[in-house]
Formats: sequence, C-alpha cells, structure tokens
Amino acid sequence: MSKDFKRYLVTAALPYANGPKHIGHLAGAYIPSDVYVRYLRSAGKEVVFVCGSDEHGTAIPNQALKENTTAQAIIDKYDAQIKDCFQQLGMSFDIYHRTSEHIHHETSQEIFLNLYNKGLLTEEVSEQYYDDKANVFLADRYIVGTCPKCANPNAYGDQCERCGSTLSPRELINPTSTLTGNAPVLKTTKHWYLPLQNYEGWLTDWILKSHKDDWKVNVYGQCKSWIDAGLQPRAMTRDLDWGIKVPLPNAEGKVLYVWFDAPIGYISATRAFFNELEEKKLKYATPQRNFVNAKATDWKHYWQDSETKLIHFVGKDNIVFHCIIFPIILKAAGEYILPENVPANEFMNLEGDKMSTSRGWSIEMHEYLADFPQKPDVLRYALLTNLPETKDSEFTWKDFQAKNNNELVAIFGNFVNRALVLTQKYFDNKVPAQSSLTQIDQRVLSELKDFPAKIAASIDAYRFREATASVMDLARLGNKYLAETEPWKLAKTNMAGVATILNISLQIAANLSIVVEPFLPFTAVKLREMLQFNQLNWNEAGSANLLVVGHSLGASALLFEKMEDNVIEKQIKKLHDSKKEMELANQPVIPAKVEISFDDFSKMDIRVGTVLAAERVEKSKKLLKLQVDTGIDKRTVMSGIAEHFAPEQIIGNQVTILVNLAPRKIMGVESQGMILMAEDKDGKLRLLHPNEAVSAGSTIS
Ligand code: MF3
Ligand code: ZN
Repeated sequence: MSKDFKRYLVTAALPYANGPKHIGHLAGAYIPSDVYVRYLRSAGKEVVFVCGSDEHGTAIPNQALKENTTAQAIIDKYDAQIKDCFQQLGMSFDIYHRTSEHIHHETSQEIFLNLYNKGLLTEEVSEQYYDDKANVFLADRYIVGTCPKCANPNAYGDQCERCGSTLSPRELINPTSTLTGNAPVLKTTKHWYLPLQNYEGWLTDWILKSHKDDWKVNVYGQCKSWIDAGLQPRAMTRDLDWGIKVPLPNAEGKVLYVWFDAPIGYISATRAFFNELEEKKLKYATPQRNFVNAKATDWKHYWQDSETKLIHFVGKDNIVFHCIIFPIILKAAGEYILPENVPANEFMNLEGDKMSTSRGWSIEMHEYLADFPQKPDVLRYALLTNLPETKDSEFTWKDFQAKNNNELVAIFGNFVNRALVLTQKYFDNKVPAQSSLTQIDQRVLSELKDFPAKIAASIDAYRFREATASVMDLARLGNKYLAETEPWKLAKTNMAGVATILNISLQIAANLSIVVEPFLPFTAVKLREMLQFNQLNWNEAGSANLLVVGHSLGASALLFEKMEDNVIEKQIKKLHDSKKEMELANQPVIPAKVEISFDDFSKMDIRVGTVLAAERVEKSKKLLKLQVDTGIDKRTVMSGIAEHFAPEQIIGNQVTILVNLAPRKIMGVESQGMILMAEDKDGKLRLLHPNEAVSAGSTIS
C-alpha cells in the first residue's frame, strides 16, 4: 500500500525558452500535472506546484543568432509567450519562475559548491572540438559529420538518427560545425565531472528494487537500461558565455551544464514562492491551503522533509535527467528528498508523423489559442483522452472534432443542458425534491456514489486517460438516465416522479462540476455558475445532497459548441502549408558560382526598360512575347514567365534587361535580350524594378 504523505510537491518540466511549445509538450508533462494538482487541491491536500522557463544551454544563444538578436531577447520573448499560453490553458502553477532569476543562480551555485567542497566532483582536462571562427566550443549537437557505422553524412555529434547509434563527436568522419560550416579543431579544456558510476549501487537499490512496482513500465525500463549499460562520469560544466558562472576561481568562461542547473530550478522556484508568500505578495489559491502564515524558510519542508511526496511530470526525453542525474545531485548534496515518482509520458504524434516545430509539423500552443480562444478545455479533453501514457499516441484534427462533437457536446453538454432546461420548465428553476425512488433511481444513485473514488484511484495511479473516461462515463450515466426515464413524457402523469428524476440529475450535474474540475477547469466554472453551486471539494463528491431542495439555479447556457467540418479542414490545410513553408525555408540556398573578373562583369550591358506590350505565345505554356522600350530602341524579347505573370499584369512595369545578349530565335521569333528575374527557392519568379521609377535606358552597374 502506498504511504500517506503530509504534503505534495509537484513539478512540471521547465520548458526551454528558445521557441514556442506545442501540444505534444502539453500532452507529455503539463496537462497531466495540472489534473493531478487540481485534484489534490480539491481533495484538501497541501500541495505546491512549480514550473518556469529553462533559460540556459547553448540552444538559446544559437536561437539568438538565428533570429539575429540577443539571448536575453530570446528568453524574454519565449518566457512571456509560454507563460501566457499556459495561463490561458488553465495551468494552475503556484509559481512560474525563470532560471535567469538571481535566486536561481545563487541556489545552483550553492549546490555546485556543496558537491565541490565535499570532493564529489572530479576535475578533468580533455580535448574538445572548438569552432575558431565562432570562437566557441561546440556542443555535440552542433557538430555534424559522417556516421562511422552507417555512412550517413548528416550524423550528429551525439547520435546518428539514421542507424540510431550513440556517438561521440570524435567518432564522426569529416566533422563540421553547424554554426559556421567550418571544420572544428581540437582544443584542451578543463571541466568538473559528476562520477555517476559511483552511485550505481545506490540507484539499483532505490529504483530497480524499491520502485519496480510503482513506477511506470516505460520509465522503469529506461532507467534499467541506463543502469545496466553502466554509468559514466558526466561533465557538469561547459565552455559558454551564457549560463550560470562556475563559482570557482580560474573558471573564466565556464558555466554550469544546463542539465545541472535546470532541475535545481524546481528548488529555486519553491524558494521564490515562499519568499513571495512571506512578503504576502501572492494570493492563496483555495481556503484549504495552509499558507496563511508561511515563512520564506518553509520551502525546506517541501524539499527536505520525508513526509513530502515529490512528483516530477516530464516527457520521455527527460527521464534520465529526472530519474538518474538529478537524484544523484540531490543525494550527493544531502538533506534533500528524492522523487517518489516520475510519471513520464511517451510522445504524441500528429496526423501520422512526428511532431516538430522546426519541420512545421506541429500545433503550437499560441496558434491553437489564437484560432480557438474560447476552447482551452476542448484541447485539454482531446489531449487527455489521447495521452501517450504507455506508448506513443496520435493527435488528429478529425479525432479532435469527434471528441468535441460526440462526447463534449453530445454527452456532457447535452446532459447538463437537459437537466437545467427541464428544471426551468417544470420547477421554476429551483431544485425539486426527491420522493419515492424507483429501481432505476436507486441504481443511478448507487453508481453515482462510486464515481469519485474510482476517478481518484485512476489519478493516484497516474492513469489520466482512464480517469477522464470515467468523468465522461458519469455524464453518460446522467444522459442515459434521462433517456431511460423520459421525464418530459412522465410530466403528463407523474410530477413527483419528474421531481425525483430532476433532483437526481441535478445532483449528478453538481457532482460533475466537482469531478470535472481537474480536467476541464473552465467548464467546471461555467457549470458551477449555472448551478449556483460554489463548493469545490472532492471529498463531498458522490453525495446525492449537494444541492438542497428549493435551491435556485442560475441561467443555463451551452457548455460546448458543435465544430463544423470546414473549421477542421482549415486546420489540416494550415498544417500542410506550414510544413511546405518550413521545407522551403530549410532548403539550402544555391551555392555561389565561380569567381569572375571585373572585366567579365562589365561586358554586360544591363538597362532599365519598360514593358510596352505582352502576349501569350501559341503552343507554349512558358513564354510571353514582350515589347520592351529599352531607351535605346523598342525590341522584342521572349521571356519564360507565362506561368508567373498574366500578360496584363506585366504591361507598364519597369524591368531589368540584359541588352547585349546575342539574339536568339525562340519559337520562330527573334528574342533580343533577356529580362532578369529573381527566382525563389520554390521556383517562383519575380521582376526586378528600381526602387523608384527611372527613365528607360538607365544603366545598371
Ligand atoms: N528544458 C527541458 C526540456 O524542455 C526540461 C528541463 S526540466 C528540468 O526538455 F528539470 F530540467 F527543469
Ligand atoms: Zn549511422
């Protein structure tokens, strides 16, 4: 049996503030953690829920290079964007912190020094690849070369994505830096390592023995294969000018490894939260929460008291860091508790392919919210019913539509609406009384009673899909109950029976407003408003007396709206368009031609001319026959632009024309010169004009 804990500390992986985050991230770590925490709060538990932006690592300065701005501008932009999206999606963090905050730098340096002073870090000098054009040491990911195992020419310094081998940069054949395209050089550098192998025995006991039965199979399996493969010393510092300075003398230009500092971000966030509580800057989320006299030092209860249950919600690519490396850091630092569980999810694919922002194949949070601003819960529901809990799952827009139309609208919304509308109609919008119960009534009441415990058990076991399904089953129970008992027909003969049915239906609706809250918090608010029911206490759920007889209900409104095909088709098209756009953007530009002399160049006579006439050429799809005023003369030019311009579009335009090209016969017409065009990566042609009109015959040089 699982131990009872006094309080909970729940963390959701700190997203990298280097770009927008997509719905795969939501499904991996965020939505499940929010359900878990909202449930705990509703059940009256003491819980702190932390998250924040992960703002270090090489990816951030590199993104800055790409966007032609500074690392600081990048983190400010994406921290704000991600935080705002999370809020709109109902993520109920107690604090959303940032690893760029001073208190985090301080906390990370403190823990680093703690390990250093105890002699738990080893110092090693080694040779690493350096890009002497960019003046930086290269992280493994920023070196590409030929895979020694399968000859893939685009293998990364840490891994070959074609054959799946784990690599080190030194193994690559013809390594090049992705920053400059240069061949990197080897240069010696000193770093501090955490000897992970020294903790193997301890990890074996802690994970492989004690958590064999309560950790998820996918998580346990990954840990086991890491431990079985044998752990290696891992550098906890990097050569970089962006990050937390290594707090040692003679460590110029060195920062803490991002995976050293980021998880410590959970601790700094907790500290910052209690600092703010002490300063009374934060509001308390619910009355059950016992933070009224909180002191800044109370963060320690959450990190250093074995009666706290620490849970890390993460995606599968974070498992090793949260199950092996960070626990070793905590263990080495001493005094800290360890995670009780790391219920990591696998990945969510999208419409048959891997989700990826850089390939344009993803649904970014901010884009979803821009297109569906009133529908955070629909997304939460579509993700929750489809979480990659045991294996990769797949999001499709059609499924999203079906979940909305067939479940949220047709079952949940429909049930609530019928119960409310019938109460308005027959009982003046007041909760009617139960009288004698039929067998159906009794069965429904007894089923109702069992729901909260069943949903809670699923949540406790991190089975959020199952829990979500049970919530919908409760709505389904209500819906079926009304269909079976048909109170609208019974009203002709037995009003007391109708009163009983509607009382029970309204009790179900009130119960739904409690149990749905962790999953669909915005819906819960609307439903409680309609029921004029403001309790939110999980421990009361299951009761058939949540609403007292005679209680006045509020105005009813539809909880969900049907989603039409065209809305969904538009999203599918948008996805395919963005993929195409990214493919183009990621296509390399055509390499430069061989060098020419100035004389070669000056032989060309290029002028500005005006198109006087244009017509299609019979039997040719590509050609337009143009009359051009070159200033020197008026001449005929055959131009291969018919697929890009209609004749009337081009007449009157100034163009750039090479006038001393030897004439050529094209389709029987002599072409006297060539119109110069810009050709985009996708083959689209554009005219070249002077930025202001000039007289025909102006020279170009
Ligand atoms: N930024 C990491 C990622 O997006 C997650 C960091 S989790 C933390 O994969 F524990 F390190 F904070
Ligand atoms: Zn390979």
